[in-house]
Amino acid sequence: MIEAKSVSKAFGEKEVLSNLSFSLDEGEILGIYGKSGVGKTTLAKILCGLVPMDEGEIRMDGKTLFTPTSPYDRELGRGIQMVYQHPYASLDPNQKIRSSISELIKYHGLAKGKEETEALILKVLSEVNLDEGILSHLPRQISGGEAQRVALARCLLMKPTLLIMDEATSMLDVMVQANVFELVKKSVIDKGGSILLISHDRELVDYVADRILDLEKNWAG
Ligand SMILES: Nc1ncnc2c1ncn2[C@@H]1O[C@H](COP(=O)(O)OP(=O)(O)OP(=O)(O)O)[C@@H](O)[C@H]1O
Ligand SMILES: [Mg+2]
Repeated sequence: MIEAKSVSKAFGEKEVLSNLSFSLDEGEILGIYGKSGVGKTTLAKILCGLVPMDEGEIRMDGKTLFTPTSPYDRELGRGIQMVYQHPYASLDPNQKIRSSISELIKYHGLAKGKEETEALILKVLSEVNLDEGILSHLPRQISGGEAQRVALARCLLMKPTLLIMDEATSMLDVMVQANVFELVKKSVIDKGGSILLISHDRELVDYVADRILDLEKNWAG
């Protein structure tokens, strides 16, 4: 369903991705593995249209999502959601967690009225193994692992067809991590979506992913 063809990207003189190709099927978890600085986040940002690539093509469901010369098809790309490597970056520091979730629900018309909104908030919190006490807190009052799960919950609300998780569970201990992956699989994979799991943790990638793309072996730098 998503296909990257001969993607290259350089920052100035520094070539980060060189002629990289891969595809990702429905219901599949593809692990992107590689050490720090190898270009994992750069690749994720390219797929979301946040960083332009120099050469290549990204296709989705048999159509061009974008190339360096044709603009990102926002309609087609709507199903792509990314959990950022730095979880606090996606949260407004002055907004309580409840309102950061309910605002998203309201903006995208995901529930009708107060009761349905509240029910949806509780459902998505349980999908990431958080309890409702977190809702009255500000981002600075929650832990890194909790912030990662709030960021993940916000992505899950959008029912992604491709969920990109960039080191998205790095602050969770192994047990919670395993639990979150079970829940994420239920809400994304079981519904025909797919996951790009980015991590420098080889054990995690081996354990969770169906297939692994080792960026170090494809490394340009
Ligand atoms: N906007 C930018 N301008 C210049 N160089 C950049 C930019 N973004 C990334 N780079 C460089 O590209 C390389 C790859 O960065 P990237 O963030 O993709 O690595 P990563 O594999 O995600 O690393 P980590 O595991 O530490 O998150 C790094 O050397 C980085 O310094
Ligand atoms: Mg990174």
